[in-house]
Amino acid sequence: MTTACEEYIHLSIASITEDSVLGFDLYQPGGSEPKLYRSKNIPISTSDLRKLHELGQEFLLVPQNQRFVLLDHLCESLPNMIADQTIPVRQKYEVLTETSVAMMTNLYEDPSLPESVKFLIKQARHHVTLALSNEEAHSTILAGGFEASPMIAHAIHVSNLAILVAMRCGISEPDQLFEVCLSGLLHEVGKVVIDKKIFERSQSHGRIPNRRLKTYPAIGGDIMAKTKVIPENTLRAIVEHQERLDGSGFPRELEATDIGTSARIVSICDFYDETIRFGENNVKPKPYTVLSHLKNAPQRFDNGIVLELIRLFAGSN
Ligand SMILES: [Fe+2]
Repeated sequence: MTTACEEYIHLSIASITEDSVLGFDLYQPGGSEPKLYRSKNIPISTSDLRKLHELGQEFLLVPQNQRFVLLDHLCESLPNMIADQTIPVRQKYEVLTETSVAMMTNLYEDPSLPESVKFLIKQARHHVTLALSNEEAHSTILAGGFEASPMIAHAIHVSNLAILVAMRCGISEPDQLFEVCLSGLLHEVGKVVIDKKIFERSQSHGRIPNRRLKTYPAIGGDIMAKTKVIPENTLRAIVEHQERLDGSGFPRELEATDIGTSARIVSICDFYDETIRFGENNVKPKPYTVLSHLKNAPQRFDNGIVLELIRLFAGSN
């Protein structure tokens, strides 16, 4: 869900069910200011939806200050939308990712709030449901594409990649896939908190040592543990996703036998997407360069999982 401007959140028309009272106001984009399309207590009819489709209107706007009601609506409407065979997979994927962006934005505002985390927990289950639905969903997820801040887009891409890689590694239980997906969505939470502190400190004290940044996985794990709604395996993966098999990772310099499967999967998907997206030393490498780097570092990354990531992109079995 992309913000048109700071005060509004996009809502895809596909996620609106006709004749239901939504409980939030809808605005139509265009001109210098969005115009009120429908106030919160008046339902949208089938003919309203048809007219919007005829106008080519793919989304409406919801005021930011009504976002909790919007997130509730999305959590309720997504399962039906994902199950609806008449809706193209591409459209389902777009609504799902737009919705995830809205939920991640909400979470990053206050990561310690259990209510925000609960929305994301439901959302992770929807990502898994879509990934398990059919083969077409895999290629759609892999093709990606949605608007979001780089940090949020990164978290969503890592979570989706992690589901697909986990499935290729033989994990088929929805609960296990959910734990992996949620780890991907939440693995940067500690960085969000540290970034705020860095910003605050840099105003008065200048540079912050890199050592401080290395604490972010543990900080993210602590914050999520306090919400008391995150599964143990997910907490573990958040804390361990920067560990490397040879003990060269952080924060605890764990060695191979101490690093869990979810963390191994997320660490590889994270390394891949982060390097592609943010680059190294101001250079953004090609995907095959990063995959080759991963493949040539079996001492640091689980080679069996890396091979599944490579096969996923190659589209081979
Ligand atoms: Fe990351």
